[in-house]
Amino acid sequence: MDYRSYIAERISAEGIGREEIAESIVVPPDPAMGDYALPCFKFAKVLHRAPALIAQELAAAYPADEVVSSASALNGYLNFKLNRRALAGRFMEEFQEGERGRGYGSSEEGKNRTVCIDYSSVNIAKPFHIGHLSTTVLGAALYRIYGYLGYRTVGINHLGDYGTQFGKLISAYRRWGDREEVERGGIHAVNELYVRFNREATEEMEAEARENFRLIESGDREANDLFEWFKSLTMAYVGKIYDRLHVRFDSYAGERFYLDKMQPVIDELKEKGLLTESQGAQIVDLEGYGMPPFLVLRSDGASLYATRDLAAAFYRKQTYDFDKCLYVVAYQQNLHFKQLFKVIELMGKEWAKDLVHVAYGMVSLEDGAMSTRQGKVVWLEDVLNRCVEKAAQVLEEKNPDLAGKDAIAETVGVGAVIFGALYNNKIKDIVFSYDKALNFDGETSVYVQYTCARCSSVLEKTKGLPFGDARAVEPNDREFELIKALGEFPAAVRSAAENYEPSTVARWCVNAAQTFNRFYLECKIAQAESDDARALRYFLTKATLTALSRGLSLLGIGVPEKM
Ligand code: ARG
Repeated sequence: MDYRSYIAERISAEGIGREEIAESIVVPPDPAMGDYALPCFKFAKVLHRAPALIAQELAAAYPADEVVSSASALNGYLNFKLNRRALAGRFMEEFQEGERGRGYGSSEEGKNRTVCIDYSSVNIAKPFHIGHLSTTVLGAALYRIYGYLGYRTVGINHLGDYGTQFGKLISAYRRWGDREEVERGGIHAVNELYVRFNREATEEMEAEARENFRLIESGDREANDLFEWFKSLTMAYVGKIYDRLHVRFDSYAGERFYLDKMQPVIDELKEKGLLTESQGAQIVDLEGYGMPPFLVLRSDGASLYATRDLAAAFYRKQTYDFDKCLYVVAYQQNLHFKQLFKVIELMGKEWAKDLVHVAYGMVSLEDGAMSTRQGKVVWLEDVLNRCVEKAAQVLEEKNPDLAGKDAIAETVGVGAVIFGALYNNKIKDIVFSYDKALNFDGETSVYVQYTCARCSSVLEKTKGLPFGDARAVEPNDREFELIKALGEFPAAVRSAAENYEPSTVARWCVNAAQTFNRFYLECKIAQAESDDARALRYFLTKATLTALSRGLSLLGIGVPEKM
């Protein structure tokens, strides 16, 4: 339950919006003052009264009920005390009800609504590098989060499987390639061929590559077999990484898929008088909207990335009838999507408003040895492996007797990479540091996972003790703080979906874990004052473990039982 909104809805002050009130509500540093407080200082100007007086008036008018037991004024603050026992009872009910269904925080609010999510969208025969980390894990997190809220989700990997580079690749392979070697080396070998071609290409080789590309286009059997082979090597490789990241897709319809679906859209552009010729090319003029022209066909008649995206949008609308279509793509493509959405709007499609570019910042590594600046590509696989290796070292130091260390190191190491990409506001550029990501005391997935392991161990140790009625006790400060933190999970999930911002869930996880650890230090289960208190603490520990595990799993991160 969102207590801030609940309180704000019951306050009326002329000229001040409820939302502004809700946002102004703080948690007092000393719980003895109250569970929440509204500082009235900034309202003095609008209300033409001293803050202390405002607080007094609002306190007198506030209707106490079973949620808020009292409102009192103190030095310009309006302090609220919540009815702890009733709210603890309500939380327990909501939690258990959620867990009887698809999980606490899940809902059916997205029922009968469809969200398409275009993410990861790798390029065939090109490196799966660190630049693909964010789109992959952000998109996959949104996919799970929307699913948790009852939406029908369609995960789309818009493969980069079309372009002249495939002609080059065939030329390179025919020149220098060896079937067995490429089978063995997989995507790395394929990429090496491509890089070598670009390094050594002569005029003559370029012409040959163009011819090879034409052969693919005209359906030449051998050229297409080679292309399909490169594609299968790429997909086998990225498939393994997707498995490690717990990422899946419902469709792999890539750029090539749309080649025969562009014409009707181009015809419609023409019909609507949107297509104009410019230096032999077909464009949509966007000057009136402060944008460069949207290139539809090159002067040689060839389509572009943009043309295929245009066809893809129409296809998705027809096929999935989406309520929203998200494109999780780096901010470098801001203009491309602005243009694309504008063109669809100009075509008179009201669903243009449902297209969303979910832009995100860049990820780089703190560790200079693997930086792209030295001309080397940072493969995502290497980052995962390295983080898993480091996780194994850290675990070894912490707990040398841990059983099943390899599997745990995988969960911890891969989780740290995912969490590192999801913890900050998505538009920010991130510098990834292995040491920071694996810090047991930091704002990290490791910290959250460790907290889960702690919960498991406490639950295990206290299983056989006598338990009373958890609802019969008044929660103390730490217990109530934890109830409030856990109670914010559903709102965090909703907000993550609404703002396309999985970091909200990641931050909730860290905050809830920190709150649990404060509770854990002060509130012992075995030595509880009463069986009722013990029951409450046991319940809260279990609820923490469940909610944190759900939060991490929405992000694609697993939870080891022991650490
Ligand atoms: N393959 C593209 C790239 O690596 C991303 C494609 C994103 N999706 C789309 N519908 N344009 O830049």
